[in-house]
Amino acid sequence: MKVIVEKAGAKINLGLRVVNKRADGYHNLESIFQEVDLFDTLEISQSENGIKFVSNDPELGEGENNLCIRACQVFEEETGIPLHIQIRLEKLIPKGAGLGGGSSDAAACLRALNRFYGAGLRRGDLIRLAARIGSDVPFFVVGGTALVKGRGEVVMPVLHFPKNYRVLLVYPNLHTPTPQIFKKFQLGLTHYPPNVKFEAVICRVEAVKDFKLVFFNDLEKVTKSVYPVVNEIKERLYSVGAEFASMSGSGSVVFGLFEDRVEVSSESMKEAFGDFWVKWVKPI
Ligand code: C5P
Repeated sequence: MKVIVEKAGAKINLGLRVVNKRADGYHNLESIFQEVDLFDTLEISQSENGIKFVSNDPELGEGENNLCIRACQVFEEETGIPLHIQIRLEKLIPKGAGLGGGSSDAAACLRALNRFYGAGLRRGDLIRLAARIGSDVPFFVVGGTALVKGRGEVVMPVLHFPKNYRVLLVYPNLHTPTPQIFKKFQLGLTHYPPNVKFEAVICRVEAVKDFKLVFFNDLEKVTKSVYPVVNEIKERLYSVGAEFASMSGSGSVVFGLFEDRVEVSSESMKEAFGDFWVKWVKPI
């Protein structure tokens, strides 16, 4: 039996700048996305009839809220191929965490379907389909480090960028509602002048210690005001030696970047983050 396996990596937003609000209700963003080596795994095989979905996560149903199902629909519409497949998804990336897990699963699903049916869709086609599924999905067609603009559909790979660091992900088991976080965001409340573009300063980033001078997340202030735990985690990450700490996406994960040579003892980890889900990952 033919089985196609695709890995779906998580992301962090090293920086996220909200540029403006658009007429369609979305926001134009400028963000540096970084893929990390925490993966969901997606397997596709033939089904007897239609699209079947199974997962180790019982909360994931077969409706349109499941972004893998959305991916199947847009692929079917684009190619005209009637799908008879079983999707098996092993989820390890926490949901509602700002790590892009669902979006990455959708991109992996598009790649897998393209291979399974030999549909010959190119990267540009996949990005266009990805943008119909969700704002973060186009990035995962490309992966690695990328400057992302517009609603998320403009993805420019950043080729030479420091990767000699480890990332500590801290997740306070809290689903932050992305639409509400964006809704509460007010441009005037950012503490950085809106004309500071990551695109203009990214060439100055040569080492992990430079990240703090350049990157920020405009949504962090909003999420912190509703969920103070986000700020507590950020402070604790600095207290255990992070070079840079920030929230990812609209939260609730806060990540800390540590130079490769820096050791964090398991006692101080336990003391700082004992109640939370934590995971060490590496940038890809
Ligand atoms: O595109 P996606 O469904 O992932 O977006 C979720 C929500 O996040 C949107 O409904 C919108 O409220 C907000 N959003 C936004 N601008 C973006 C991306 C997301 O306002 N560029």
